Order: sequence, then C-alpha cells, then structure tokens
Amino acid sequence: MPIDELSKNTLQVQEITALLNRYNHEYYVLDAPTVPDAEYDRSFQQLLSIEEQYPSLASLTSPTQRVGAAPLSAFSQVDHEVPMLSLGNVFSDEELFEFDKRIRDRLTDVPSLHFCCEPKLDGIAISLLYENGALVRGATRGDGNTGENITQNVKTIGSIPLQLLGNNYPQILEVRGEIYMPKAGFNALNKKAAELGEKGFQNPRNAAAGSLRQLDSSITATRPLEMCAYSIGLVEDEQEELPQGHFSMLNKLSEWGFLINKEMRRVNSIQDCCDYFVALSEKRESLSYDIDGIVFKVDEFELQEELGFVSRAPRWATAYKFPAQEEMTTLLDVEFQVGRTGAITPKAKLTPVFVGGVTVSNATLHNRDEIERLQVKIGDTVIIRRAGDVIPQIVSVVQSRRPDNAKDIIFPTSCPVCDSPVEREEGEAVARCTGGIICKAQSIRAIQHFSSRKALDIDGLGDKLVEQLVEEGLIETVADLYQLNYSSVYNLERMAEKSASNLFSALEKSKQTTLPRFIYALGIREVGEATAKALALHYRAIEPLYTATEEELQTIDDVGPIVAKHIAQFFNNTHQRDNLQKLLDAGLSWPDIETVDESTQTLAGKVIVLTGNFEAMKRSDAKKLLEALGAKVTGSVSKKTDLVVAGPGAGSKLTKAQDLGVKVIDESDLLELLA
Ligand code: IVH
Repeated sequence: MPIDELSKNTLQVQEITALLNRYNHEYYVLDAPTVPDAEYDRSFQQLLSIEEQYPSLASLTSPTQRVGAAPLSAFSQVDHEVPMLSLGNVFSDEELFEFDKRIRDRLTDVPSLHFCCEPKLDGIAISLLYENGALVRGATRGDGNTGENITQNVKTIGSIPLQLLGNNYPQILEVRGEIYMPKAGFNALNKKAAELGEKGFQNPRNAAAGSLRQLDSSITATRPLEMCAYSIGLVEDEQEELPQGHFSMLNKLSEWGFLINKEMRRVNSIQDCCDYFVALSEKRESLSYDIDGIVFKVDEFELQEELGFVSRAPRWATAYKFPAQEEMTTLLDVEFQVGRTGAITPKAKLTPVFVGGVTVSNATLHNRDEIERLQVKIGDTVIIRRAGDVIPQIVSVVQSRRPDNAKDIIFPTSCPVCDSPVEREEGEAVARCTGGIICKAQSIRAIQHFSSRKALDIDGLGDKLVEQLVEEGLIETVADLYQLNYSSVYNLERMAEKSASNLFSALEKSKQTTLPRFIYALGIREVGEATAKALALHYRAIEPLYTATEEELQTIDDVGPIVAKHIAQFFNNTHQRDNLQKLLDAGLSWPDIETVDESTQTLAGKVIVLTGNFEAMKRSDAKKLLEALGAKVTGSVSKKTDLVVAGPGAGSKLTKAQDLGVKVIDESDLLELLA
C-alpha cells in the first residue's frame, strides 16, 4: 500500500475506533447513548470494511473484536501475579460488629477508618489486564492462583473497555470485578430457549458462567452480560499517584471507562454499614441484577495493608450474606388445588426447609407444562427458590438423587373436588375444572373473592368461615350469603354470638357498595379492579352489560378480545345471571355514577406517575384530584407515561423518566395544573 494511503487509512481506523469506543462507553457504562444504534452500526461497518481490505490495520483491541473470534479448542491457563482472594462471611449484625472489633484491635492507631459498602454481585469473578491502556488478557479466578484465559469472551462484553479512556493510567493495570447477567437479559434468554424447546439456565449466575465458558466467543457475544469493577490487582509504572482509598480508586476506574456499582457508598462506622445492609436488603428485589449479600471493605489502602490477609481472605473486608434463596429438599407429594375460575394448580408438598429467611413446606408447580419441563417425580430431591415475597418455586430436580421408587405425577383428568371433567383450552397453559358453580372449591374461592377487601370488603367473613359455610351446606353462591339465617350461623362450630352478629352487620353494610366494586366482586375471569372500573364508567349501570357484545366491549380502554369474551360469556350464563338478580333482589345497590362534564376533563387520557414526598397534600389526594380531571395515575414509569410529578426524595422512577425523556414537574407545577 502506498505510504499516504496507509497513513490515511491508519488515521481513519484510529478515528473510527475512538468514536466507536466512545459510543460503546456511553451506551454500556453511562447508560446514556448519544447516537442511535444505526449510527454505531454504520461506523462499525466502515471500520470492518477497512480492516478487511487492510488486515494489518486490524488491532487486537479493535471494536470489531466484540463480535467474537474463531472458536478455540480449549482455554489456556493464566497465572495470577497477585492471587485472587475470596471473602470471609458474616450472617448477622453481631458478627459484623465482631469484624469491626477485630479490625480495631489489630490496628495500632485508628486515626480515620471508613468503610466502603458495595452489593455482592452474584456472578463470576474476572481479572482484566491492560498494557498501555489496551486490554491484553481476561482471566477467570480459577483456584485464585491459576485461572483460564477467556480474553476473546470478555472482549464481547460491552461494558468492558478494550482501550482505557484518558491517558493517566498505569502502564500495567489489572482490574478485577464481577461479570453477571442482569435479570431482564436472563429472563429474555430463558424465554428464547423455551421457545426453541431448549432447557434454559437455572439462574442468572449459571447463565453468566455458562456464557463465559463458551469456546466459541461469538456465542458469548449474543449473551447479555455486564461487568462491574470492584478492585485492582497488579499495578506497575504509574503515570501519576494513585488514589489512597478504595472508594476514590473505583471512581478513578470509572474515569478510565469501567462500570462501577451505583449503590456503592463510603461510610463512617460499622453502624452505618448495618444501616446500609437494611436499606439495600429492602431495595434488593428492585435491583436489575442478583446480589447475594453486601461487601464491606476498609476504605483506606494504608489500613488495608496493615491488616493484611488470613488464609485466603483479607482481614479488611467481609461479606454480609443474605440467607440462601435456594435450598435442596424432597418432594413428598403433589396436591391439585382448584381456583375461583376452576384453574387446577399443582402444589408441591415438601419436607420443610429454611430458605430465603423462612421455613417453606409448599411450593407452586404452576401447571402441567411446568411438571413436564422439570421432569419431576414424587420422591425427588428438588432445588427450591424463594426470593423476596415471591411464592416458592421448584427450579430443578437433582436427577442423580432420584430414588428407585420415585412416582410419576399424574395430572388429574377429573376435578379432585367435584369430579367434573378437567379441560384445557387450546393455547392455554392452564387446565380447568368444568364444574363451574357445582364445584365446591370454585364456590368457596368465588365467595372468598366476593368478600375480599377490594371487592365487597365484608368484614367478619374470613376465608375460613366461607369454607365452613360451604362445607356445612349453608351457602353455595354469593347470593346465598344474604339469605343466611342467624341461628344456623350461630350454631356453627367455633362461632360465638359476637362473631355471628358481626357477620350479619357486615353483610348488611356490604349492600351499599359501588358499581366498580360490584363488577369486580362478580369474579369474571380476567376482570381486575382496573377493568371493573373502566366497565362501570363506560356503562354506568349493570344492565347494559347483560347484552354488551364482544365487539362493543372491545371499544373500552383496557378491554382486549380475551377479556371481552370472558365478560360476554359471564353475562350470557343463566346461572350467573340468576345469581346476579338474586343479589340485586337482596338489596345490593350503589350510588349513580355522576355524568362526567367533558369540559372539566382537562387531563383526559393523560398517564401520570407521582413519586417522592409531597408537602401541600397527600399523594392519595393528588391522585384523586388528577383522576377527577380525567388522568390515569399509574405506579410505574414507561414510554406510555405522559408526565411524572416528582417530590423531594424521588428515586428510580425519576431517573427512569429522565432516561426516557418523559416530562417531569414538581409539586408547585402540580398545584398550578390542578388549579
Ligand atoms: S471483593 C479481596 N467486591 O465475591 C476481595 N467481591 O466471596 C475480593 N464479589 O470471588 C473480592 N461482588 O467474585 C468483592 N463488590 C464485590 C463483590 C465481590 C461480588 C464476589 C467475587 C469474589 C466473591 C468472594
């Protein structure tokens, strides 16, 4: 190639590389892209075509390396110059205070001691080696001394810089951190696997590990992985003095292009660490990635050095672990429960086990497909997971522990309660009892729903009492509630005079209700509170619903074809209509829904989110006032949100609104809007 052409192309490659590295950093690290994907793709293609034409210009840290390289036959080994250690654990505040005491006892002088608090990311530890700012090696932790060389794989991860930003980094710099798969990416990956009939990963950690273990890095490139830096290893030839503490060092890494954790804080005492633990535990479920504890590190490098290590863990850091969210236990039996709409749900009975902070003896198996997917049998050893307040789930079966006498789970073909046939509609995962009103289980659930807080809110008619009334044959339908006589209730086992009279006065009180509550209480499939409200506002009475067609129903906001079908079916069913009439005859009524004066609906159709603290009024009052002007007030920010009202202390909803470019106003603007 002639000299000028070479220098022209070299220059162009450098320019495009710098541009792509910037776009990449903005997108993956700052989460604030400045150009559309198409622009990135155009520059990428341009670089690719120059590199194809002049292969000598393709560097090992070119952004084109991010798509993966030729498959390897095996990973080579890497010796860690500075061993990669692990962390000691604590499981309670007491143990955390002991950790603090051990540190203070050991230090000769504690002029200033700070802690850095960071989430313990549940992924795979990684070491990244940079020479003159270029990524030259990525390695797993392995046994701490020797790991595997997975350079090609780490290069495909967008949040890992291939070239450090700025120019004041040490000539040799090893950065350590965690590679993990955010929850959303994990769910999408597993969904895709299920669609292809493939087995999916058990949890985001396994998915991250499996993705990094690929010899073909073009597969890793398709996996939604992230890397967050949490420390440095080998450092040589510093260009300027490095920060003296962990917190500032991580901020330095951020300047050089790394993603660091947004939740990280530097605090003054171990009590602050306890407070941080409580605050982050509460936030845990809403984080976009899995964490399994909190790491506390002494901030000052000088003190870290003085404290040193014990066996393979530093004395200056510890991990306060959350209770395990996954545990092993045995599946003793499977019961089939019948829900309000006849849905048959298999419920696993387990040997009780302590998991996620509570003792669990039941887990849901969802439906027949789930049993098939898990290939689970009675007697199996299973792994169960309980995260946050979510119902415990069976995530997998330990096939190697299957006993010889393990029994197949037979999904019932007739209802376990009323013996009616069980059917499964095409395209539905759920099998249902066809018994309808004759099925005691469905009756019980329907009456419990009718009485529940968001429906008719019948105080004194708890779930157990409903069961008892149905079992004793005193009621079969919701309408029978209003025909009950005092003496038969009073004579029930465990019933006292006071509870009987409470029940009757609550029943009487429930007759004065509202149309939305009444529609919701009917328990029509797929009709939740919001749909019930939409139906009430649209029809203003119950009678027009008797003859509403599916087409007509679909003109209402929030009502799609499936919901419309269920509503029409419900009102066409003579049983249901009889029941409904009996309720009206018993005196159930509601005030008229006022006709809306269109001219007052200045916010008609606007989707608004309220967040943070308000001073002039309660948030619930602001909601009512906005709704009176026709706005829909929702709880989460999305592309559909028109406006966010943010008071002091607003957090993630405000950030999301800003990210999505949704208009944000404060309380004084809100007052103006309402005026
Ligand atoms: S520091 C010498 N910080 O936890 C200290 N580790 O149980 C080395 N981990 O192998 C680790 N988040 O993979 C540190 N913020 C964090 C972490 C973290 C997750 C992992 C790491 C390590 C394991 C130790």
